[in-house]
Amino acid sequence: MTRKANPRTPTTPGSVDAIRERLVRVLPALEVGMALPLIAEIEQLKHERNAVVLAHNYQTPDIFHGVADIVGDSLALARRAVDVDADVIVLCGVHFMAETAKLLNPSRTVLIPDQRAGCSLAESITAADVRALRAKHPGVPVVAYVNTSAAVKAEVDVCCTSGNAVEVVESLGVSKVIFLPDRYLGQHVATQTKVELILWDGACEVHERFTGEEVRAFRQQHEGVFVLAHPECPQDVLVEADFVGSTAAMIDAVARARPPEVVMITECSMSDNVAVEFPDVRFTRPCNLCPHMKRITLPGVRDCLRDLSGEVRVDAGVAARARRSVERMLLVGQRRAA
Ligand code: 13P
Ligand code: SF4
Repeated sequence: MTRKANPRTPTTPGSVDAIRERLVRVLPALEVGMALPLIAEIEQLKHERNAVVLAHNYQTPDIFHGVADIVGDSLALARRAVDVDADVIVLCGVHFMAETAKLLNPSRTVLIPDQRAGCSLAESITAADVRALRAKHPGVPVVAYVNTSAAVKAEVDVCCTSGNAVEVVESLGVSKVIFLPDRYLGQHVATQTKVELILWDGACEVHERFTGEEVRAFRQQHEGVFVLAHPECPQDVLVEADFVGSTAAMIDAVARARPPEVVMITECSMSDNVAVEFPDVRFTRPCNLCPHMKRITLPGVRDCLRDLSGEVRVDAGVAARARRSVERMLLVGQRRAA
């Protein structure tokens, strides 16, 4: 599994012509025409506020190709958040991603354009649940997927993303680990390691809807299609896939294989965003929309930059302990790279 991130270089401030050129490759001309005045406004506000926009791979193309300075999977966004020296970070993604950016770069103002952009995984477990798990399994270390609240991160030993979960689990050097909250990611990790995993019963409401039957039917209709699936999908989907990995790893896999036809079993905007980079590859459905990611819109980005609204704050005591769990995760990657 490739774990390389896929960050894009920053947009030159005010380069709306270059943005138009990119957008016409992914959106109908009418939509581009409607988006451009807002994009120009946002570019100006970014300049005035000394702000950068970080966007997850599931953001809509107008945000991803229009206003984002840095794009990537959860791991890339966390890594890049550490080094941001702008005064303001606008996180176009869901709340746990904005919280992670705040934990890693606490002196910056971190804004999220819609505070309601949550995640079914993050909502599936509380700090009290983690304490109860520890009491039930004394001495067993806890690995938390970053799709958790800061309060949960504060209770665990180390975080992971879908891009480094196996590596993080194995870095602990123990035979048994509590892995939370995604049971499907946990089941997938369990197929890649000898470490015994105690799982929590959380799931992503977007990925758990895919079925193996759906993938098999799709393959029959599209002979030779290259199937990529996110590890938040159920096991019966993952066994049907040609490649399983994080959103960034999926992009890398397409870049390497350059298959004529691809289906990404994940959130719908992925294919829209990635297709621009690979004009020779046909991207087809099925896909499912994440309602939380879709709460982030261009007007929302404009408003939060204009009003400095949607600031993400984390209680100082919680932040200190949660930061330690996220930084331990980043250290695992650094040790591998060294
Ligand atoms: P990635 O870390 O693979 O980008 O996934 C984040 C996420 O929320 C997937 O649903
Ligand atoms: Fe959470 Fe699933 Fe949406 Fe990702 S796609 S943010 S895991 S609900």
